[in-house]
Amino acid sequence: MHTSPIEVKNIKKTLQGREILKGITFEVEQGDIFGFIGPNGAGKTTTIRILLGLYKVDSGNASIMGRDVSDDESRKKVGFVIDGDGLYDNMSAAANLEYYQKIYDKSVDKKKIEQVLELVGLADRAKDKAKTFSKGMRQRLALARALVHDPDILILDEPTSGIDPSVQLDIRKILLDIVQNENKTVFFSSHNMDEVQKICNKIVLLHKGEIKLYGRLDKLRQQMGKNILTVHTSSEITNDILNKFNDIEDIGFYKVNKGNLLFTPSKNVKTSDIINLLVKAGIEVEGVVKEESSLEEMYNNIVREAEEK
Ligand SMILES: Nc1ncnc2c1ncn2[C@@H]1O[C@H](COP(=O)(O)OP(=O)(O)OP(=O)(O)O)[C@@H](O)[C@H]1O
Ligand SMILES: [Mg+2]
Repeated sequence: MHTSPIEVKNIKKTLQGREILKGITFEVEQGDIFGFIGPNGAGKTTTIRILLGLYKVDSGNASIMGRDVSDDESRKKVGFVIDGDGLYDNMSAAANLEYYQKIYDKSVDKKKIEQVLELVGLADRAKDKAKTFSKGMRQRLALARALVHDPDILILDEPTSGIDPSVQLDIRKILLDIVQNENKTVFFSSHNMDEVQKICNKIVLLHKGEIKLYGRLDKLRQQMGKNILTVHTSSEITNDILNKFNDIEDIGFYKVNKGNLLFTPSKNVKTSDIINLLVKAGIEVEGVVKEESSLEEMYNNIVREAEEK
């Protein structure tokens, strides 16, 4: 039977009389880098706590690698970083990792420890105490810590908050690396839309305990795209050509702007249709730019709309 690494079906959760999750459903598939986004208080950390077996659901169910999250075995498949880095200050980087291997019922595997330290770029600091590390180094060590028992899934709550852009880049590279080269699946929450757009293939946008957007990021961006096509040319655009284009309603031709022709085609028109039309009219196409909505624009539109309701 096919089971996805994370399956969440209609889960509801009330905390102190308030309904925090109002029945959410989504699935994280093998090899996904899944972005979990939404405003402060949306319920992201609550969901993550449920996935880690720290909170019980009121109804619905959630599973990790086919096992219900209430099953202790499900936890062994997961590496996680939430609520700080979970490091012991007075222990060396390597000793922290050894300790976490033992917690996960694994015997100490020095090779694995070396490998994850290498992965996060801390191999030369193995013997140094965690308290001597900068915030960015701690965050990378926390990732190593989450990987040291060789989990199938990594669950991270805002892994890059409060760290500088170069370490954010390091962490993005590490996440891509483990998904592409080690067959792992990553699920993380973030407030950084640029970061999510750069590495996630799928997203959920949560707002006040409800899912407002869910799916493949490229598809969502296409669907919600502004659908403006800009064609760059140095050919002369005669009035004849302009009139001809103006007559074809579907292509939405509307402007010539500094050697650029601008179109807002309807959904049934393909970019290649427009290019063919231009070529037939003797116009040399030097470049084409199709604008898509950025995740940040989509996020802001959806959250604004939801707040107005
Ligand atoms: N232990 C708790 N008891 C009562 N209410 C809680 C508890 N934990 C969280 N909440 C409430 O649940 C809601 C969702 O909180 P949660 O931490 O899941 O949001 P979040 O999406 O992670 O937000 P942020 O982006 O700020 O981290 C908030 O209104 C919060 O006040
Ligand atoms: Mg949170």
